[in-house]
Amino acid sequence: MKLSFTFTALAAVASAFPAIDTSNEAAFLKAAKLAARTVKILEAEDAQAAKAAQNVRRSSLPLPQDALGISRAETNCGPTIPCPAFDAEDQYVSIEGEHAYAAPAEDEIRGPCPGLNAAANHGYLPRSGVASIEETVRGMNKLYNMGIDLAAALAAYAIVIDGDLLGGTWSIGGPQQSDPLVPILGNGQGLSYSHNSYEGDSSIGRLDAFTNNGDAHSLSIEKFEAVYAVGGNDTSENGFDQRYTIDKFRSRFEEVQQHSIDTNPYYFTGAFSTVVVVPAAYNFVINFMSNHSEEHPSGYLDGYNFKQFFGVTGTPGSFKWQRGQERIPENWYKRPTISPYNLADVFVDVGIGYLAYPNTLKIGGNTGKVNSFTGVNVEDLTSGVLNAKNLFEGDNFACFAFVLLQQGIPHFLKGPLEDINNATSFLAPFLEPLLGKLTCPELGKFDQSLFNSFPGHKYSPTGPATNY
Ligand code: HEM
Ligand SMILES: *[C@@H]1O[C@H](CO)[C@@H](O)[C@H](O)[C@H]1NC(C)=O
Ligand SMILES: *[C@@H]1O[C@H](CO)[C@@H](O)[C@H](O)[C@H]1NC(C)=O
Ligand SMILES: *[C@@H]1O[C@H](CO)[C@@H](O)[C@H](O)[C@H]1NC(C)=O
Repeated sequence: MKLSFTFTALAAVASAFPAIDTSNEAAFLKAAKLAARTVKILEAEDAQAAKAAQNVRRSSLPLPQDALGISRAETNCGPTIPCPAFDAEDQYVSIEGEHAYAAPAEDEIRGPCPGLNAAANHGYLPRSGVASIEETVRGMNKLYNMGIDLAAALAAYAIVIDGDLLGGTWSIGGPQQSDPLVPILGNGQGLSYSHNSYEGDSSIGRLDAFTNNGDAHSLSIEKFEAVYAVGGNDTSENGFDQRYTIDKFRSRFEEVQQHSIDTNPYYFTGAFSTVVVVPAAYNFVINFMSNHSEEHPSGYLDGYNFKQFFGVTGTPGSFKWQRGQERIPENWYKRPTISPYNLADVFVDVGIGYLAYPNTLKIGGNTGKVNSFTGVNVEDLTSGVLNAKNLFEGDNFACFAFVLLQQGIPHFLKGPLEDINNATSFLAPFLEPLLGKLTCPELGKFDQSLFNSFPGHKYSPTGPATNY
């Protein structure tokens, strides 16, 4: 499935995953069933997915050759499946009854991810802040129309990296309360203390862990202020005239990286979290928090919706973060069911970002002082197989990202080899639907020792601090 054009190659990553090749109903059903079986989705939901597949008329992706062209042209709906029409009934999100807003109670956990915090505050995830794979898949799908494969993979990775492998749960913030007789495998610290494994530097609104005493889960109002400004000059309280696009956010990511280089001696980017999760989180704001309407079927994001989801009130210059109070806006319409955002879309969108803003692909770190950023050659890391030139050819980028992910596991799990093997095999079926379709070169030995000169590589603050 190697294709000759760089951009078509990225699209190929998407089409490689059968669940989004919705022109092929049989393939889609097979993939949906596979995911459904894994996470025990009910028969009824499976049928709904099949119906959605029938209704989609997939248009082939016309990818322009110019890097900025494709980034600038991208709508708020994502890179592969268009959001062709607005369907109020399908897209309306209830915030009533069981989904009424409630701020977290004393013993309920919130963390670095506004999308998850808002979901928990409205009962789309357990309000405790601790979830199983099935709860994650149902909640993310119902609230955001996140693809089953993506939600399952994100949750499975959280369980393996910082959750409870035996209990099958993960925490959206700090450590889970666990029965001391049932030790949590891995480090069990939750998303808030998953630095370099899930959480990473140069986030959209959180500070780098090292520069904030290990706290990478609290919103920095200065950082929010800066990203808010990329959407325009509407300084009114509601911010209805602000507009955010994925291209503006990709450009903002470059500024934030430079700020990290300038201020964080422990800045480190040689991990799956910094190469994929952090830029993906920027993209999630656009692809998941946008409101949809008749006029804007692909969605639009204004200041009002941005602030509500991030738990921010006030006007530019005097914004306030209301800790733990991230909300789903009233009268908000999610992306359509026929256009879920899937696992492959994450890689396509992150890849487009690197092609449009090549400086943002940084693998390396500061060496203990600010402004000492030193890059590691992809070539040296991969025994000469991948290099700056071919990284975006064929499926190479997704292959590289998966290697980073898998190489990271033993580094972050401080258990015996058996646990690491168990963790790896737990995760495998959730990655296989995408990974199994990629054509990956034999990467040989992946030389992690090249990261030893970066002090940020080993920095891993632990909780508990506060619940949120
Ligand atoms: C199972 C689903 C999800 C998981 C496991 C997850 C995990 C994470 C993690 C680990 C981070 C920290 C990354 C960093 O250091 O920047 C993060 C940040 C973020 N996530 Fe999520 N996330 C999920 C779903 C979502 C959804 C649905 C949205 C959007 C509605 C979202 C939006 C964001 C944003 C905007 C950030 C950056 C926050 C900031 O820097 O202020 N996430 N998420
Ligand atoms: C905000 O206003 C300034 C000055 O009028 C202008 O140069 C800039 O382009 C505006 N920014 C946006 C995002 O509209
Ligand atoms: C979202 O769009 C709908 C439909 O146009 C509109 O009625 C509603 O007020 C918007 N909601 C938010 C939260 O912006
Ligand atoms: C790990 O896997 C082995 C062999 O599959 C199994 O016997 C063992 O119970 C597992 N350990 C844990 C803690 O899951």
